[in-house]
Amino acid sequence: MRRHSIGFRLAAWYSIVFAGGLAIFSLAVWFGMRAAVYHAIDDELRDRVQGVRTFMDRQISALSIPEIRDEFREHSVLGPGGDLFQVCDAQGQWLYRSVPLESNNVPIEKPSDLDRPTLVTTQVAGRPLRFYSERIVVNGQPYTVQVATPMHEAFEAIEAFGIILVLAVPVLLIAASAGGYWISRRALDPVDEISRAAQRISIENLADRLHVPKTGDQLQRLTETLNQMFSRLEASVRRMKQFTADASHELRAPIALIRTTAEVAVQRRSRQAAEYLEALDDILEESERTSQVVDSLMLLARADAGKEVLERGLVDACSISRAAAEQGEKLARIRELAFSASIPDEPVWIHADAEALRRALLILIDNAAKYTPERGMVRFDLSANDGFARFSVTDTGIGIAPTDLPHIFDRFWRADKARSRSQGGAGLGLSIAKWITESHAGSITVESEAGKGSIFSMRVPLEKQCWSWPCT
Ligand SMILES: Nc1ncnc2c1ncn2[C@@H]1O[C@H](COP(=O)(O)OP(=O)(O)OP(=O)(O)O)[C@@H](O)[C@H]1O
Ligand SMILES: [Mg+2]
Repeated sequence: MRRHSIGFRLAAWYSIVFAGGLAIFSLAVWFGMRAAVYHAIDDELRDRVQGVRTFMDRQISALSIPEIRDEFREHSVLGPGGDLFQVCDAQGQWLYRSVPLESNNVPIEKPSDLDRPTLVTTQVAGRPLRFYSERIVVNGQPYTVQVATPMHEAFEAIEAFGIILVLAVPVLLIAASAGGYWISRRALDPVDEISRAAQRISIENLADRLHVPKTGDQLQRLTETLNQMFSRLEASVRRMKQFTADASHELRAPIALIRTTAEVAVQRRSRQAAEYLEALDDILEESERTSQVVDSLMLLARADAGKEVLERGLVDACSISRAAAEQGEKLARIRELAFSASIPDEPVWIHADAEALRRALLILIDNAAKYTPERGMVRFDLSANDGFARFSVTDTGIGIAPTDLPHIFDRFWRADKARSRSQGGAGLGLSIAKWITESHAGSITVESEAGKGSIFSMRVPLEKQCWSWPCT
């Protein structure tokens, strides 16, 4: 089904609501006007009955019946509709009957049958008349006074008003709908402009930003949100470009080295077997390094794509730590460093991927060993408190300058490129450790002082049911 534009739908909804409102309003106004007309007429009828009562109160004892009739006749010609009235006594005898009512033999109720005043509209000789009948008592005698007024003018006025409304409502509705459509189009114009401007921004000019209208409304928020999105996109594209450049550089160097070593070995044919062996050794070492870098790169790429899934389960952080400490000890021995480990005897249960966590710990221990000069010290600690297992690796190594600290978890970042490379580092270890820790809903932090040493700490939440030992 074809979707209409938002401007059209807004205008359509507005018209529907407006039409409903207008219909209710018109009906209310028409009924209100009709009620007001009836009210005015009924008030006037009541006043006339009141006039008759006052007249009879004053005159009935002084005048004879024929004189009263004459008086009524005289008065009846005064005032609008005044000639439409009749009065009867308790026996139903006419005290007075005006000519139009008499000639049409309009009935009247006796005072005894009239409990309360009545108001009715009926047709008399083809003309609509409104009758008001009330029982009055004069000189102790009950009478029924009935007055009437012609309604055709009132009906004509009510009808004319109705026609005006019926004609005006569609005109108003059309005008309001057209206005509504125009306003909604105008209100949405800036959105079109924003989308056109957004379309102009592509990967080539991601640094461009949309103009932010200072309206303080949704449009301003929309453009600000889009601009923030572009900033995030720009940053991640920049990171991607940097990553690709670094990765290719990192791979080109060892491959070039392997190639040169092989070329030199092949070209100088007069070499001894030992020299070939040495060349092959170099090639092997570089290939191992390269495949490590490729492994790390692949892992990070899979992690970025969300394809590297950790297989987490209930594991004892102590046994992972012991395995890592064992390898740490070997590393430390090779580098002539003192190594110590403090791991609790009781199990520390965490929900983790044991292999990944061991890899993260080894990255930290490897760094500590790598960046600590001979006869230095490396310490590994595991503790559990506040719902977290805390692994920390402390060294007395070269430390990290405060300006470098914010970068150490960046990919390919190394404080001293030449030095860490000579030790086989590509600058990916900490990025991997950070990803592994965060995938365990944990965090990794560092405290370091240049020349004195560093403490890397990883916090991973304890398994919820196992906050107290032993885990049940
Ligand atoms: N314990 C430490 N003491 C001093 N500097 C450190 C320590 N750990 C890391 N660094 C600094 O942080 C940088 C990044 O470390 P990271 O482990 O990511 O890379 P790398 O060790 O250089 O290479 P890789 O781990 O990929 O083999 C290192 O090059 C080093 O400059
Ligand atoms: Mg490292």
